[in-house]
Amino acid sequence: MGRVVVGVAVTVAVATCAVAALVVGRRVRSRRKWKRVANVVRELEEGCDTRVGRLRQVVDAMAVEMHAGLASEGGSKLKMLLTFVDKLPNGTERGTYYALHLGGTNFRVLRVQLSGQPSSDLEHEVERQPIPENVMTSTSQDLFDFIASSLKDFIAKEGDGSNISKDTRELGFTFSFPVKQMSVSSGILIKWTKGFSIVDMVGRDVAACLQEALTRKGLHVRVAALVNDTVGTLAVGHYHDPDTVAAIIIGTGTNACYLERVDAIIKCQGLLMTSGRMVVNMEWGNFWSSHLPRTSYDIDLDAESPNPNDQGFEKMISGMYLGDIVRRVILRMTLESDIFGPISPKLSMPFILRTPLMAAMHEDNSPDLREVARILNDIFEIPDVPLKARKIVVKVCDVVTRRAARLAAAGIVGILKKIGRDGSGGITGGRSRSDMKMKRTVVAIEGGLYSKYTLFREYLREALNEILGEDIAKHVILKVTQDGSGIGAALLAASYSS
Ligand code: BGC
Repeated sequence: MGRVVVGVAVTVAVATCAVAALVVGRRVRSRRKWKRVANVVRELEEGCDTRVGRLRQVVDAMAVEMHAGLASEGGSKLKMLLTFVDKLPNGTERGTYYALHLGGTNFRVLRVQLSGQPSSDLEHEVERQPIPENVMTSTSQDLFDFIASSLKDFIAKEGDGSNISKDTRELGFTFSFPVKQMSVSSGILIKWTKGFSIVDMVGRDVAACLQEALTRKGLHVRVAALVNDTVGTLAVGHYHDPDTVAAIIIGTGTNACYLERVDAIIKCQGLLMTSGRMVVNMEWGNFWSSHLPRTSYDIDLDAESPNPNDQGFEKMISGMYLGDIVRRVILRMTLESDIFGPISPKLSMPFILRTPLMAAMHEDNSPDLREVARILNDIFEIPDVPLKARKIVVKVCDVVTRRAARLAAAGIVGILKKIGRDGSGGITGGRSRSDMKMKRTVVAIEGGLYSKYTLFREYLREALNEILGEDIAKHVILKVTQDGSGIGAALLAASYSS
């Protein structure tokens, strides 16, 4: 009997030890896997470092590159393109003007009514439609026929539709890609960005292609202005507030333009301009500096993109890319651990995670991060992600977005520095930065990433305050415009129509 009891006791002890060993082993393995994931996050944070010192280096690099791009053609990765816009609308424009806007996620057609009096609310109608994906990579004829048909349908809805081909209408075309302008109403496409790729279009006059397509459709519409979306935004921003000196787009792509003194544009010496100033389209999406915080995810994204070594700044900032950086980090985590369960093939699909969904995960305020779980399940087909792993996803979104917003802020300060509006101009003569008389400085901003993503906006503003200091930063006003790039093109068509 005694032996049996001893035997049972031994068996129980052995079993207990085995279970304990199993539990300990599992805990050790689990701890190791979370540690590996924590390392991925730590590495990402280090790689995305945007402390204020580094941002100031980016500011300086931006200002230096701006000088270089203005000095000579090809002098910098910043193209600093001439726009020939030397006067901005002031409210005296009168009549009905049309605008087409191509270049973001949606294509837009607009009609703007101008009364000849400055108005705080410009009367306009707008129709938006997604650009069919096949059109983005087809031929120039398909693209411009699509655009011209949309305008024709839009005009046909006016009145009884009978005057479609009678009256001549004036139009501003917002074309949000790098264009080498020959005049306000003509310019050749330098290259495509943001996933567009219509090879036969590069090197051709964009306005002429549109004009031909309008004629093919029997429309009597004249392309009076060809403008970048930044330029349209600046025009509308300046119309509403003459202190507006620059415009930024932070949407699918990113870019900036600003008003420059003609004598500072060394490469255009000899051009006769009426006002001594000209809007310069920076094409800052292509800005590059060794001070930019770059991770292995950025390097891979760039290498696998259709335009490697191009648009480096844009690939760290804009809506086209942020979701995909996050996808790459999650993929790496699943390769290093099983916190997201077995590897889902969806994780390897480029651009499957769109930035608006990434923003929704980032801004998920529910205690159990329900939205994060839903998106991981819907997009990547990863079910039942534990709360701890969902929190990590939110952290990754935060790191990627914070870097983007802070870099955009550094870009803005770079422009302010170039035009002497960063408050640093008067430090000489014993005056401190805060004593300086800083002019009210307005920057117009457009684009869904900025206007629809609260945390992005907050991070950008915070970085602006950090870089400039509160005393200077309070004079810098960021004003969101909506449909400004289109309305601005109509305003410019009015200013420049014969
Ligand atoms: C284009 C710019 C444009 C920006 C914002 C970039 O990809 O190169 O011309 O202004 O996107 O739409």
